[in-house]
Amino acid sequence: MTTQVRMYDGAPAGSPTAETLDEDRLSLPAWIYQDAEFLEAERELVFRPSWQIVCHLSDIPRAGDYHTLDFLGETICVIRGQDGVPRGFFNVCRHRAARLLDGSSGHCGSRVVCPYHAWTYSLNGDLIGVPERQEFSHMDLRRHGLAAVDLEVYRGFVFIRLGGNGPTVAEMMAPYDNELALYRLEDMVPLGRVTLRERAVNWKNVGDNYSDALHIRVAHPGLTRLFGQGYGVQSRGWVDKMWGALVETPSANLSERLYQKYLPDVEHLPPERKRLWSYYKLWPNIAFDVYPDQFDFMQSIPLSPTRTIIREIAYVLPDSRREMRAVRYLNWRINRKVSLEDKALIERVQHGMASRSYTVGPLGDSEVSLKSFGRRVRDLIPEARLNTRPGAGWFRRSNI
Ligand code: FES
Ligand SMILES: [Fe+2]
Repeated sequence: MTTQVRMYDGAPAGSPTAETLDEDRLSLPAWIYQDAEFLEAERELVFRPSWQIVCHLSDIPRAGDYHTLDFLGETICVIRGQDGVPRGFFNVCRHRAARLLDGSSGHCGSRVVCPYHAWTYSLNGDLIGVPERQEFSHMDLRRHGLAAVDLEVYRGFVFIRLGGNGPTVAEMMAPYDNELALYRLEDMVPLGRVTLRERAVNWKNVGDNYSDALHIRVAHPGLTRLFGQGYGVQSRGWVDKMWGALVETPSANLSERLYQKYLPDVEHLPPERKRLWSYYKLWPNIAFDVYPDQFDFMQSIPLSPTRTIIREIAYVLPDSRREMRAVRYLNWRINRKVSLEDKALIERVQHGMASRSYTVGPLGDSEVSLKSFGRRVRDLIPEARLNTRPGAGWFRRSNI
């Protein structure tokens, strides 16, 4: 169901010249990109029930290897068990709540030992040792294992979820699973380390821009040289997709020209994918860049209404060909530039959203990703239908 929303177009409210559009043809309102209470609502209604990517199984190959994710004020850890199974836990000791595992990744041996009073947990989260046990004679160890979170492995990637019981990652990715299956993601290994880049924008501006096909020919000259005008865009269920095929005309830019020239054959990809770049955005904040030469994930994590961390890392199939090594480096160079161009754009948008002159804007026919994202946000948080900020306390009151 769509609701009619009045767009601010300079005409006085109620004037017959004011334009009225279906909400589906309008962007989300600017206030929700800069409001602390709206972010609180998003934490509860958007993020807590969402799947968040932590790492790939190849990042934690041995029992006792772990990766952590800082998210919504929590630290979550994923630990590979003695049985080879990865498990997800809150990284919090059951005794006095000390943080257990340090850093973004590491190896904890055959057990997790708390640095505060040395309570000891097995790799599957059971509490197996308490020094000064007699002091806790009343306590049943079995009731004090680590608090678990939902975990799902999708095509080699480990996702966790803090709560909720929505669809699985596999169910959400289903419309495109046959495409991702071609890339042998399960066999990939990390190329480098996770990078964290902070952006002075609301997290939604990162995702909106990621699946915005209209800006590419205007604002990304490199991508336009490489892909011409031919970017496709599509939205199915929980996933938005964009794609472009490399043109054969050599680019005027050296890195791009060398990438075009040296991109080697990837035997297991079908012909139409050997020179295709595609991008998939999984609700609400995860993006996959799928290249013939590598695969990146990018996750935008809100720190505040106007600050976001972009967490990103690339994975590759082992391939010792010199051309492959070269194009992976060139890909990084090309996309580093794109990322700086996007940084400037999203900061420009964030700044404009603070203007009193702006509430919502119209969406074009092809802006299917922005429309689908808008529908989901409005369904979960109906206040997103309001053009201006409601009085303080709207979310806190509704949650008492
Ligand atoms: S807080 Fe962990 S053992 Fe005391
Ligand atoms: Fe962009």
